[in-house]
Amino acid sequence: MILFGKVKILGGITLIKRYLIVGAMTALIALIAACGGGSDDSSGSTASTAAPAATTAPAATAIPAGPSNSELVALGEKEFGTCAGCHGADATGVTGLGKSLVGSDFITNISDSDLATLIKTGRPSSDPANTTGIDMPPKGGNPALNDDKIDGLVAYIRSIQ
Ligand code: HEC
Repeated sequence: MILFGKVKILGGITLIKRYLIVGAMTALIALIAACGGGSDDSSGSTASTAAPAATTAPAATAIPAGPSNSELVALGEKEFGTCAGCHGADATGVTGLGKSLVGSDFITNISDSDLATLIKTGRPSSDPANTTGIDMPPKGGNPALNDDKIDGLVAYIRSIQ
């Protein structure tokens, strides 16, 4: 209690300021820290240095995870309705409309980002790379396909090779 008295006399003004500025909880923590300071006579400064440490809470650092591959495949399967009219519900192609997307060397040999680009831009019959003389329209003709949905379509097409 002698120590506590010293704290009150020497650090009283500082503690009152702390109480007003930081609030009741911080002041309480500071007082507890000062009392627990033991033989250290400069308890006033002990209190002021102990308080920040006592109030440092572990930060919640949850980083939002991107969709898993199975979530992307499920999204792509849902969005494949846009493509099914020409490529078939099972993606094996429809004669005269769209070629099979299953077992395609072209798909096997290009990167995910190039496949996404092809889906976005399509492949018109005027493109020298066109193999059938039939247009593949940009986004399969569905402007609502955003990048996330196209990533899903890429994952889905990969999953059925
Ligand atoms: C209106 C018909 C049509 C629609 C709808 C369509 N495609 Fe196509 N797609 C084609 C045609 C035709 C080709 C072949 C182009 C060529 O001759 O090279 C093609 C080619 C492709 C290829 C290249 C395959 C290869 O082996 O060269 C991919 C990948 C593809 N389409 C994906 C899609 C996806 C994904 C969708 C849905 C978002 C879609 N297509 C919607 C007609 C369509």
